[in-house]
Amino acid sequence: EDFKSGKSTWRAPSNIALVKYWGKKENQIPANPSISFTLNNCHTLTSVTFSKKDAKTENFSFEFYFEGKKKESFKPKIIQFFRRIEQYCPYLKYFSLKIESENSFPHSSGIASSASGMSALSLCIMDLEKNIYPGISEDYFLKKASFLARLGSGSACRSIEGNLVVWGNHQEIEGSSDLFGINFPYKTHEVFKSYRDIILLVDKGAKQVSSTVGHDLMHGNPYAEARFEQANKNLSKLIPILKSGDLSAFIELVESEALSLHAVMLSSLPYFILMKPNTLEIINRIWAFRKLTGIPVCFTLDAGANVHMLYPEENEIKILDFIKDQLVAYCEKGQYICDKIGGGAKRI
Ligand code: PMV
Repeated sequence: EDFKSGKSTWRAPSNIALVKYWGKKENQIPANPSISFTLNNCHTLTSVTFSKKDAKTENFSFEFYFEGKKKESFKPKIIQFFRRIEQYCPYLKYFSLKIESENSFPHSSGIASSASGMSALSLCIMDLEKNIYPGISEDYFLKKASFLARLGSGSACRSIEGNLVVWGNHQEIEGSSDLFGINFPYKTHEVFKSYRDIILLVDKGAKQVSSTVGHDLMHGNPYAEARFEQANKNLSKLIPILKSGDLSAFIELVESEALSLHAVMLSSLPYFILMKPNTLEIINRIWAFRKLTGIPVCFTLDAGANVHMLYPEENEIKILDFIKDQLVAYCEKGQYICDKIGGGAKRI
């Protein structure tokens, strides 16, 4: 009668935050709410093959393959994830798992694969749960996938659905929760339905400071409380902007969020800088281009040197010309990735 074996495959996207999450409490509870655009092209494809064991074992049984090759180095992160979710997925130790994963973007491009990777894996685990308990609803399935993904990597909980996802309790956003991401529940302006994100790859090296360490440094940061309050206020301000399509207000808010994220990195102890000279060069050129052309393009940053350029779809041609003329020179090996707002993870 019970589920013995099967295979599940999910494609889950990356996401880019507009209001940033930086700083957390116990159990991956965010210090402030955040909101992101779900991306489309940058994704992780993960398959999990489940086989039931004769009995529950003491340890988790799994193998991990990355781009076709067995990867032992990724195992500790997965074991930590399994330990965190075990109490919510008590069936895990009854199965052995073969996990196979690949990313659409170049490995070590400085694009965090933890969001797309952890959300894809969580969705595969929810497929296992659904095989065991076929009665669970679609809503429960997605909420719990996001809940599990959060325990793997905070921002991963915003990579299950699209196009705009809120994570973290916020007074003015109905249904928002610290425990999982939800779709932005209000109707947004047309312009945001087809927004573009071009990721300029400034530095493909490993980060000097991991996001785990970075979040932790917010505990001693003298500006932490002000930052958390600012993020809450910015999310309040963003709600009417997303409804009205006021792009100059959008640009100001999004760029301010990116710089505030990096400002609290500068004011941590130990302090650190994740921007590179070319990050600043690109930001200055985006500002000059915007002033000259009036095209509503803005930048944002996550925890690294790469620059995300956000703009409405209709400006595509002019933006691509601008990149080729002025920005590729500041990208490592001239590389950039074209992406757009997307609809969330898909079962394959
Ligand atoms: O999910 P983590 O722990 O890798 O943190 C990601 C934090 C930022 O990308 C810098 C901001 C965000 O909200 O995505």
